[in-house]
Amino acid sequence: MESLSWVLLATAISLLMFKLLNSPHRTKTLPPGPRPWPLIGNLNLIGHLPHQSLHKLSQTYGELMSLKFGSTPVVVASSPEMAKQFLRTHDRIFASRPSTAAGRYTTYNYRNITWAPFGPYWAQGRKIYLNKIFSSNRLNSSEYIRVEEMRIFVSRLHALSGNPVVLKDHVSRTNLSVISRIVLGRKYFSESADEKEIVTLEEFQEMLDELFLLNGVLNVGDWMPWLGFLDLQGYVKRMKALCKRFERFHDHVLEEHRARMKAEGEGFVAKDMVDLLLEMADDPNHEVKLDTNGVKGFTQDLIAGGTDTASTTVEWAMSELIKQPHLIKKAAEELDRVIGKERWVEEGDFPNLSFIDSILKETMRLHPVAVLLAPHLALKDCTVAGYDIAKGTTVFINTWSIGRDSDIWDDPHNFRPERFLGRDVDVKGQHFELLPFGSGRRMCPGYNLGLKMMRSALGNLLHGFHWNLAEDMSIEDIDMEEVYGLSTQRKFPLVVVPEPRLPTHLYN
Ligand code: HEM
Repeated sequence: MESLSWVLLATAISLLMFKLLNSPHRTKTLPPGPRPWPLIGNLNLIGHLPHQSLHKLSQTYGELMSLKFGSTPVVVASSPEMAKQFLRTHDRIFASRPSTAAGRYTTYNYRNITWAPFGPYWAQGRKIYLNKIFSSNRLNSSEYIRVEEMRIFVSRLHALSGNPVVLKDHVSRTNLSVISRIVLGRKYFSESADEKEIVTLEEFQEMLDELFLLNGVLNVGDWMPWLGFLDLQGYVKRMKALCKRFERFHDHVLEEHRARMKAEGEGFVAKDMVDLLLEMADDPNHEVKLDTNGVKGFTQDLIAGGTDTASTTVEWAMSELIKQPHLIKKAAEELDRVIGKERWVEEGDFPNLSFIDSILKETMRLHPVAVLLAPHLALKDCTVAGYDIAKGTTVFINTWSIGRDSDIWDDPHNFRPERFLGRDVDVKGQHFELLPFGSGRRMCPGYNLGLKMMRSALGNLLHGFHWNLAEDMSIEDIDMEEVYGLSTQRKFPLVVVPEPRLPTHLYN
């Protein structure tokens, strides 16, 4: 009897041990991090600039840090090595996105690429982007659009010579015009009272600003789903309203494109990205059907992805340069040497403008627009640097923090473009210390177009004008505060006074 009891006890203990060892609830070794509160997790530690809050926390808890946002596990990578773990070593496991209200309500239920979960729909979309939309042939064939809009840009600024201008408004308008013409075939927004279009330039710009803001906010319902229905911050209401405005715009654009397709029948040739997408939507050979909402989602991705990101970077670059006039002088010397005074900067000149390129890299180091990239999601349990990361964890890569790491960068808080001269670091996802476009499967597919637009805008701003501050301002007044969002912008727009530096006939 006694021996039977021992056998039963031993069996029970073995079963318990087996269950504990194989249970999904066995104690995991999470990366270090602050202790979470019930319900809110660590949201109390995240201020209005989340990347800066996370940067401070990483100085206590290290390059790989574990937190909870509400009930959702979150991991933050703040070093090149940790970024590499998620974006290269375990890229496939972390190549999805968390489900967010923004993805649901502003992108037709995840029918774009940015918010689409990892899977066949997303993979097919990326293939379309990389092979058809951003192929070098396509990009080269739209160069004339970028040249025409750049000429309009410099002549508009020339007309304002001697007056204070809000620089970002002008760069954004140019980028929006370029992207609209490449993606939609024409601008579709009216720029003056006598033009009748479906939206005005101001309305369209405002819709895109709202889209960026709502796609970047920390929406409480995303982290505490049981509170979602209350929409405490009112973001979901705004997302639904914005979706209606975009819907009206897209319907109009698609109607016009379909009408041309029908009228031209067999002789139809795709002229813009919407044409290409519509052709693909009709193609029965596609593995996953691209429906009308998919075409709208993709179109929105392209317009939104390409406008604000590029103009925000150019505005940061000019803000840093204005504070150090000797850098503007050095850039102007390079431009005079390579371009001369009788023409504008062209795309073919970029490989010869290494100082302008260094200015852009230095800007993206200190002011990456996507400070936390876009959130990644763990599709499976995974071990990273000896720590357990559970399936369903949201991963942020803090590029803002990596750009300020004194172990990687000398004098990291100062803007010193020279650091990149002759240094083998590019922005194409191979060097994990500089990741403005991300890396791996989810890396920005539009980076080439983005680089062309930024180089051309910055190059021509510095080539075509001397830049001064308004009379009542001094360098010390240039505030470098940020506002967080899917793109992290300047809190106070840069206001500067242009003066021409090339012969007058070039501006007409
Ligand atoms: C000019 C500056 C630009 C910057 C700094 C930038 C940055 C980024 C970043 C950081 C990501 C997320 C990477 C990740 O999740 O790991 C991203 C994704 C994306 N970008 Fe860009 N981007 C730029 C321009 C563009 C342009 C011109 C387009 C298109 C016209 C574009 C379209 C996209 C799309 C569709 C995604 C989502 C990719 C995916 O989730 O698979 N971007 N971009």
